[in-house]
Amino acid sequence: MTNNSYNAGILGMGHAYPSGILTNADLEKMVDTSDEWITTRTGIKQRHKAADDEYTSQFAVKAGKQALERAGIDPNDIDIIICATTTPDQILPSTGCIIQRELGCENAAGMDVFAACSGFIYGITMVESMIRTGQIRYALVIGAEVLTKYVDYTDRSTCVLFGDGAGAAVLGPVPKEKGILATKIRSDGRYEEQLYALGGGTRYGTTHETIEKRMHYFRMKGNELFKIAVRSMADISLEVLEKAGLTIEDIDLVIPHQANQRITDAVAQRLGINQEKVYSNIAYHGNTSSASIPIAMDECIQSGKIREGSTVLLTAFGGGVTWGATILKF
Ligand code: ACO
Repeated sequence: MTNNSYNAGILGMGHAYPSGILTNADLEKMVDTSDEWITTRTGIKQRHKAADDEYTSQFAVKAGKQALERAGIDPNDIDIIICATTTPDQILPSTGCIIQRELGCENAAGMDVFAACSGFIYGITMVESMIRTGQIRYALVIGAEVLTKYVDYTDRSTCVLFGDGAGAAVLGPVPKEKGILATKIRSDGRYEEQLYALGGGTRYGTTHETIEKRMHYFRMKGNELFKIAVRSMADISLEVLEKAGLTIEDIDLVIPHQANQRITDAVAQRLGINQEKVYSNIAYHGNTSSASIPIAMDECIQSGKIREGSTVLLTAFGGGVTWGATILKF
């Protein structure tokens, strides 16, 4: 059944993160780095870090429960759960299915989307047309990561960057002038070697050798990714603006993926938008990959930065490489 009389919009959000905190001062004791280097090169002062017995779905479930309560939607009314994660609890079942069980969403399909830092935008893009065309009514999209378990704390070029957390959104039908006005996702697998974790899959199954070579940890050529990230996030933002028939002047708030404060500043400069309209929480959370945008969105809703009538631009870039952008009217 097709129904074009409404759009897909956000009905409620939530977020959660571990209580454990790793500060720049803590990292100074672990690797050859300094608070000064981390702050000036990334903007990060601290990141949340899961304890050994904490795992991704726990934060996803907390964030999802909060989003459902704030949306006032019964768990049984959710048709699909998409968990955007690169750090699932385990290979099988999907984290989406675990969340479905834990939240008691008995009528929902659960699945994972594996798109690194762009995962939340991938997830909402997938459910947008399902809701708009009437194929489903309510969706729960969660970006959730425990990246710190894939971080090599002997590699100073990556270990200072990543943090853990989850952000969730309940989406459903909203009046046509609101909700998702335009959205777009892209990828380019030719850049695989810029950011990867080789060990533990079917190509390099877990062996003593892969563990000794530390192949299960993330590796990144940050410097090269930096330039691609800025260009991709800015270009796709302009594409969705055009698709929505808007200009950058119509945007009240930009929420970029929180990878690096210098990337955020460079994207803002390329888009020609005042820094005050660009949200940043990287100082407190670091890079939480697919969780970074929904955590930031929920912080903005709770603090009143996003209000009824706000037009918000989301833009993300991550390993794959993947990228995407969405324009939402609240
Ligand atoms: N402390 C001190 N020195 C360091 C550290 C550190 N933690 N890390 C690197 N350095 C050194 C390097 O060894 C290098 O030293 P050298 O000049 O003697 O060789 C110097 O600092 C400069 O290194 P660069 O890599 O050029 O530093 P850069 O300014 O590019 O910052 C960073 C590195 C922060 C990683 C940046 O490149 C970045 O943010 N890149 C983009 C990351 C990104 O967007 N990733 C995709 C999303 S993440 C995802 O998908 C999960």
